[in-house]
Amino acid sequence: MVSENQSVPTGLFITLEGGDGSGKSTQAELLSSWLTDAGYVVVRSREPGGTDLGLELREIVLHRRGDIAPRAEALLYAADRAHNIATKVRPAIERGEIVIQDRYLDSSVAYQGAGRVLDGQEVREISLWATEGLMPDLTILLDLDEGVGRERLDEARTRYDRLEAEKHDFHARVRAAYLALAEASPERFLVLPATDSIDSIAASVRSRVESLLRR
Ligand code: ADP
Ligand code: TYD
Repeated sequence: MVSENQSVPTGLFITLEGGDGSGKSTQAELLSSWLTDAGYVVVRSREPGGTDLGLELREIVLHRRGDIAPRAEALLYAADRAHNIATKVRPAIERGEIVIQDRYLDSSVAYQGAGRVLDGQEVREISLWATEGLMPDLTILLDLDEGVGRERLDEARTRYDRLEAEKHDFHARVRAAYLALAEASPERFLVLPATDSIDSIAASVRSRVESLLRR
């Protein structure tokens, strides 16, 4: 774990990123089972909504009827993140556990930054303030053409949340922002095509996580 406030190496913090329907929760579940079977203590979380407070914020930010101003939306995600990290993720990492989380601050940079067109650097700084600088050890980016993600969601969903309901352009900007983030920090990111088979993605993820565990 890399943190501005902490020099002692402890547990691991692994995040999954990608568009809606890219396979994040499928891979989080497979990785979590594999690590649990190998004897590690795994904590699963997600943003928004990894905690009780987060579930309330999730309902607002995803399902509120009527507008939410872009900066208010960014702050709602940051509030969810602050509480999730302070009360659930950081304590688990400090106990030496492995946290596997669907979405983290890269989601805010991609969706609120590139998607809503706020300044990506400012959005990132709000998240870093919210989390006292906690960065993941590994971020798995499941890269997916937005049309394919939409087809997958169409099969699974009856209603779309506020972000999913955004148009093609929005999701194309989100995807480009994710790829730019990964390119800027290749040591932190593992980028995999989300159209590969579930098993082959899981195998690539395991191999990268194994190398982290050997460190
Ligand atoms: P996310 O958590 O990113 O929204 P999910 O893991 O819920 O995505 O997957 C969305 C849908 O796509 C599910 O129906 C899931 O079974 C399917 N799916 C996941 N990974 C793949 C894959 N690699 N190839 C094809 N379908 C997939
Ligand atoms: P999620 O529940 O992960 O949806 P999915 O399983 O479909 O990927 O996330 C809900 C939505 O919230 C998703 O469309 C992305 C958005 N989001 C942001 O816009 N900013 C953020 O910081 C986070 C964490 C999520």
